Amino acid sequence: MADAGVDETAIEVFSHYYRLLEHGETGMIPESDIEPHDMESLADVTVDDAQATAALDGTAVIKLNGGLGTSMGMDRAKSLLCVRKGLSFLDVIARQVLHLRATTGARLPLIFMNSFRTSGDTVAALGRYEDLAVPGLPLEFHQNKEPKLLLRDLLPASLPRDPDLEWCPPGHGDLYTALLGTGLLDALLEAGYERVFVSNSDNLGAVPDPRVAGWFAASGAPFAIEAVRRTPSDRKGGHFARRRSDGRIVLRETAQTLPQDKEALADLERHRFTSTNNLWFDLAAMKEALSVRRGILGLPLIRNVKHLDPTDPSTPEVVQIETAMGAAIEIFEDATTIEVGRDRFVPVKTTNDLLVLRSDVYALGEDFVLTQQAEQVPFVDLDGPYTTVDQFAQRFPEGAPSLAEATSLKVTGDVTFCRGVKVVGDVEIDAGSQAQRVESDSVLR
Ligand code: UTP
Repeated sequence: MADAGVDETAIEVFSHYYRLLEHGETGMIPESDIEPHDMESLADVTVDDAQATAALDGTAVIKLNGGLGTSMGMDRAKSLLCVRKGLSFLDVIARQVLHLRATTGARLPLIFMNSFRTSGDTVAALGRYEDLAVPGLPLEFHQNKEPKLLLRDLLPASLPRDPDLEWCPPGHGDLYTALLGTGLLDALLEAGYERVFVSNSDNLGAVPDPRVAGWFAASGAPFAIEAVRRTPSDRKGGHFARRRSDGRIVLRETAQTLPQDKEALADLERHRFTSTNNLWFDLAAMKEALSVRRGILGLPLIRNVKHLDPTDPSTPEVVQIETAMGAAIEIFEDATTIEVGRDRFVPVKTTNDLLVLRSDVYALGEDFVLTQQAEQVPFVDLDGPYTTVDQFAQRFPEGAPSLAEATSLKVTGDVTFCRGVKVVGDVEIDAGSQAQRVESDSVLR
């Protein structure tokens, strides 16, 4: 394998998780070990304006940008995709921050956590924002990389035709290791920042809102996660809970749920909240937690099995050891959560989400914040021929249809949408085995 140039802390952390993997660690959280977790809502909290602005001034913003958007057939950062009016996710994020700096006077550094696969493109795309970097702080830092391990014997996989594919990013839980290893944690503390707001670059709802900053600063908590209520489409996803043994808040993911507990996992009345992955932490408290644990936070392990070349099923199966950033909530005794509105959680995981985001369901304001225009966000279900961003672009060559009056849109088969199509109410199209076109300016109802 090629020399990775990975730092010592990252090697220690990888060794820790490798040992857990070797010992068959599964990270399961039985239902009998947890109880439901309730929380206050941001809507009910009073935050003084001056306090909010002061809290924002002590905040650094980090965007997770190391993923490759593989679920949408991408091998580059998802944030390079165009959202609307020629602006990419990266443009919108940069402009949200520049606007907040201008209106509040907060310093508000914006820093991207890139992986070795997303750094070059991201830095090039941000080149047009000359004032984005705050003096003394970088615009990006790199997460670590680790070897993919052969499923059959847990030895490092080898692929001489494309050695890059022998490595993978260790999931976004690597944030803490990378902050420590790159020296950025210390640099932020030395520059006088008190807290960090971290969120996914594919969630344009994750604006560094002064009110949330003010709430977090006043809470005195070392660590917090913004939560939203689970909806029927979140039934199979993870949720917050309290661990009975020590009363700590934990996040239980689907992969950590035993088969006999699947019904409890799906119970939206019992486990009411899921994570937005919008997270706040106090820099001094994080430094302390990392130094007490000698750089290894000890997050639950996620065992991710894929093919060595994800686009080639003939390559051997490999294990990628990953951890999730939000799981760090259980490290802090006084960690907390807050319920926020769905406007702070607009993730783009699939082309279904991308279609809604590009449509008139949302408007992009002068502050570059997304505002929901439609009464409801429609349920969109596009078939196999729309899975990758390239397939998607071919079938919506002239932009997204109007979805502001739609309740749901389900497309089966191969349908191309021409300009100015409007969807009203519940619409289902089944093209069967023949490719179909929806002509310009059609109204589907
Ligand atoms: P996701 O796993 O949801 O998105 O990560 P992804 O990796 O971009 O897409 P898929 O799963 O390959 O289709 C959520 C956020 O965490 C970042 C991603 O860039 C995204 O903003 N991320 C993920 C990292 O920064 N590093 C990682 O190792 C993994």
